Amino acid sequence: MTVQPSILSQDNSTSSLVSPLVPPEKLQPEEPLKLGIMASGNGSNFEVLAEAIQEQRLNANIQVLIYNNPEAKVRERADRWGVPAVLLNHREFKQREDLDRAIVEVLQQYQVEWVIMAGWMRVTTQVLLNAFPNKVINIHPSLLPSFRGLRAVEQALDAGVKITGCTVHLASLEVDSGPILIQAAVPVLADDTPETLHARIQVQEHHIFPEAIALAARLEEVRG
Ligand code: GRF
Repeated sequence: MTVQPSILSQDNSTSSLVSPLVPPEKLQPEEPLKLGIMASGNGSNFEVLAEAIQEQRLNANIQVLIYNNPEAKVRERADRWGVPAVLLNHREFKQREDLDRAIVEVLQQYQVEWVIMAGWMRVTTQVLLNAFPNKVINIHPSLLPSFRGLRAVEQALDAGVKITGCTVHLASLEVDSGPILIQAAVPVLADDTPETLHARIQVQEHHIFPEAIALAARLEEVRG
């Protein structure tokens, strides 16, 4: 049955469901987390993490940004925030493992403890995961395990789902998989384009990312 969009009521709201809800003040690590951020493009997530740190919603420090595209806008953001930025252009490495070895070297040089993939568009290898066990965090614009990989927002629109969202999770070898930290659900509206839907998802990404990082650190503390 096809339902005419005109008979459906949609109020264009951005209301969403976040789970688990974590009170940030209860989660803050005592010692600032030493973050290394990896990003490939725009870097709005880099920006919100820098803001959350500045506003003391996340007790952390961004030690370094690693980016892989010389044109990536995230580089300008790092400069503005006074964060050292290192370009590791994946085209200059023969194999994925070689790139990851170079990444690990930079992260260690900057004494990074937590690796944050904030729009990092390369496949991760065991080289990076072994160097930072349970400490590599990824953000993805879907409710995993649905719509892994590239073009997750388009995949959701093509599938016709009415709710999608975003996920912050610990990274594992398989792309966009690993233990989930926080998810936020976002409604898909009848007239959504990939751009409008992605924008609505990003509002939630920016909301849950700092909290998910604090949560990961807390869980790691408890695990001892
Ligand atoms: C985000 O939607 C993230 O989930 C995905 O890539 C996008 C990066 O956005 N992995 P930005 O560069 O942080 O603005």
